[in-house]
Amino acid sequence: MFNFDFYNPTRILFGKDRLGAIDTLVPADAKVLITFGGGSAKKSGLIDKVKAALGRRQVEEFCGIEPNPRYETLMKAAAIVRSQNIDFILAVGGGSVIDGTKFICLATYYDGDARDLLKFGFRHITSEVVKKVVSFGAVLTLPAAGSEMNSGAVVSYEHGKFPVLSDMTFPKFSILDPTYTFTLPKIQVANGIVDAFVHVGEQYLTFPVAAKLQDRMAEGILQTLVEIGVTTVNEPENYDARANHVWSATMALNGIIAVGVPQDWATHMIGHELTARFGIDHGQTLAIVYPALLDVRKEQKRAKLLQYAERVWHIENGSEDEKIDLAIQKTRAFFESLGIKTRLSEYGITADDIPALIDQLKAHGMVALSETQDITPEISQKILEKAM
Ligand code: NZQ
Ligand code: ZN
Repeated sequence: MFNFDFYNPTRILFGKDRLGAIDTLVPADAKVLITFGGGSAKKSGLIDKVKAALGRRQVEEFCGIEPNPRYETLMKAAAIVRSQNIDFILAVGGGSVIDGTKFICLATYYDGDARDLLKFGFRHITSEVVKKVVSFGAVLTLPAAGSEMNSGAVVSYEHGKFPVLSDMTFPKFSILDPTYTFTLPKIQVANGIVDAFVHVGEQYLTFPVAAKLQDRMAEGILQTLVEIGVTTVNEPENYDARANHVWSATMALNGIIAVGVPQDWATHMIGHELTARFGIDHGQTLAIVYPALLDVRKEQKRAKLLQYAERVWHIENGSEDEKIDLAIQKTRAFFESLGIKTRLSEYGITADDIPALIDQLKAHGMVALSETQDITPEISQKILEKAM
């Protein structure tokens, strides 16, 4: 197990009817901006409920943070935060709204061209770079990204999706009420299960470092997602199934299973290019890339793939190769059981499209990916060909 620090200051309020706590968690004299997306939170009446919970505070609204939040949209919100002296932001939505809000909080008082903040990659943006960061809280409406309890964000600009990381952008609090997700379309529920599943894989399916507890926690999240996945897609108002989906997605990427272990993230980086170029939902890009990547990286991941096969899929018989192949097949079959296609060709993408994707990876510096930084553009090409 590697040395590690663990820091996560976000207060979680889980369950039904928790909005009342907003009055105690948002400063009484704060001028508040509510940020949200294209309209689902408005239509469901959630925005009105949040406004009511804010009582007599001055409240402004900023709607229109799009899926895969765009830099230009976020800078419009930053201008409002600055000009209206907003003290606190409340993000109401899924990963895009919460990520977008994190970037708004960083960019508002950044002393320079805010596009600089897209160039840090996996390096953390510190208080040396951004002197003043606006505080924010979140009300989650889509369990997937885990953004409600982490400090990372992904911002779209020109033809790329850029990670933005900083210890200063943890939500002060996040309200996780499973009933706020009941209005989700099936495909978004499925996207969220896959996103959470692959988040765990990126932190678990690498190589062993005797991190027994982290492994068991990771396997527990994977098994829970397998157990409730189809149910929560098909029975959207099944509270128990959805509550487990919500909490599993949060626990998958709040940092706790990442401590002291190697991390991959190649599937995400390749997936981001598919979203940037073809607009495919984030979760779907992972369902396409992950089974292919596991297949291409069987040797490098052998020990953990065997552990995954046994502990998550209960595969006991067969040779090592047979167990690994079956575990990868079951992974793909699980994604398909949620209603998500796992082949590039099923999204209308052909082998002719692959060179441009490889060029994008190169342009974004994604040329030494994985837990061992050895996935070159040539290997990424093999993974995409395997995913056809
Ligand atoms: O725009 P609105 O009206 O909110 O509609 C959204 C959007 O169209 C809709 N939706 C959300 N909650 C709903 C709802 N519709 C009905 N009822 C509800 N309760 O769903 C659509 C997708 O929303 P979005 O927020 O884009 O989805 P998700 O939560 O999957 O977030 C995806 C973003 O998260 C980033 C991705 O890159 C992508 O930009 N990620 C963030 C991470 C992080 N911060 O750690 C890690 C992840 O790997 C991921 O990269
Ligand atoms: Zn993800």
